[in-house]
Amino acid sequence: MAAGKGTRMKSRLPKVLHTLAGRPLLHHVLEMAQALRARQAIVITGHGATEVEASCTLSANATAPLIVQFARQEPQLGTGHAVQQAVPVLADDGIVVVLSGDVPLTQAATLFHLITACAGDKLALLTLEMADPDGYGRIVRAANNEVLAIVEHKDADDAQRQIGEIYSGIMALPARALKSWLCRLDAHNAQGEYYLTDIVKFAVADSVPVVAHKIHDAIQVTGVNTPVQLAELERAYQLRQAHRLMEEGVRLADPARIDVRGDLLCAHDVSIDVNCIFSGKVNLGEGVSIGANCVIANAVIEAGAVIHPFTHIDGEEVGVTVGKGALVGPFARLRPGAMLGANVHIGNFVEVKNSTLASGAKANHLAYLGDATVGERVNYGAGSITANYDGANKHRTVIEADVHVGSNCVLVAPLTLGAGGTVGGGSTITRSTAPGALTVARAPQTSIPSWSRPKKKPKS
Ligand code: UD1
Ligand code: CA
Repeated sequence: MAAGKGTRMKSRLPKVLHTLAGRPLLHHVLEMAQALRARQAIVITGHGATEVEASCTLSANATAPLIVQFARQEPQLGTGHAVQQAVPVLADDGIVVVLSGDVPLTQAATLFHLITACAGDKLALLTLEMADPDGYGRIVRAANNEVLAIVEHKDADDAQRQIGEIYSGIMALPARALKSWLCRLDAHNAQGEYYLTDIVKFAVADSVPVVAHKIHDAIQVTGVNTPVQLAELERAYQLRQAHRLMEEGVRLADPARIDVRGDLLCAHDVSIDVNCIFSGKVNLGEGVSIGANCVIANAVIEAGAVIHPFTHIDGEEVGVTVGKGALVGPFARLRPGAMLGANVHIGNFVEVKNSTLASGAKANHLAYLGDATVGERVNYGAGSITANYDGANKHRTVIEADVHVGSNCVLVAPLTLGAGGTVGGGSTITRSTAPGALTVARAPQTSIPSWSRPKKKPKS
């Protein structure tokens, strides 16, 4: 169900497209369907339908195949009415799991338990005991503990409002029974809506067993209604990620100060200082150390590499590789296609894009390497840049092994600096150089001896 407006978000964006851990809420829910190996997933859209549907198509393409279909609900007359819209596309056999687009953190294992409880012929409700159940539907039980009904908060009497067991909004039930019960819903209630929760009464009337699968982990059923709740859920999610990482042996300086917005995979003895953000797919090898305030996305960082504070790495679709024992930062920037070999050093204010640096190469200060192939042990001086773009096309710079590029050089691509050569500081190099040569391309130094500076004219 993803048709609601999400009024309390006070946002132009439909609620289910607000992000948690860098991904829309709805994508988290679709991933549940995927983990369950659902044979079809029907997304009920209404408010912002075009935008919501477009976002699902993207997610379905990006991951393993999950057949996502859409059913439009216009106008939005309640959760029962929402599910009614799915009936034409819903198979008659099998089990239906009803999920909410704004409840993103239910674990697949919980849903598997719910499906097991349903067993193909029962109505299984996911429930939770709450200290403050205000606003939720309450689970009403008979003296023998059998579930009789769900009563919405607004329809509940004082005695029912004392009930602490609430309905999470998630249920599993046979498709056939669901379809028959949906036809019987009406809107005679406090909100004038078609409540999906009314089907519990029909199940009881039809002698279909109703089972409540009660969990104790509120985060799994917490919905997002306001920006505050979204932020709280984000923190709860991040803390879980942090604990998972620490259980795998990662040393975090502060578990409350790390954000993982994708897949972070760590080998043993990785340490991560405060305020780091990881997104996309990031792989940290054994003993890697990440300094404070690094932002790292789509990168493989091999064993023993050290990323100093304030480094920004984003491989985007292409990726970035930092080789074994390499040192990067502080204040370095690695862009897509930066491929650093073992023991490469990239220092402060150095930017590398679409360039390969062979082992032992160094660019320690204030430099740019774009579209370059850099050989082993090259020393690339402070302030030097590859002029790789002529305003229309990009060109490659090849710097062969053991070349020494002095400070403040401009290498106008395309060109090759021959192995073992040296480029004098301040040179603008426009042609390839021979191996072993010293190349200097700057105005020769001249001096005028005993030169006296101009003097100020006396005022007349
Ligand atoms: C619902 C349950 C309540 C439960 C609570 C748990 C009903 C009648 N009540 O209440 O028992 O405790 O969830 O969070 O089901 N939606 C639509 N179309 C609509 C209305 C809603 O698609 O016409 C979607 C919303 O976008 C949302 C979900 O259904 O994703 C839940 O709707 P919401 O209005 O938040 O239901 P609650 O009042 O929270
Ligand atoms: Ca809700």
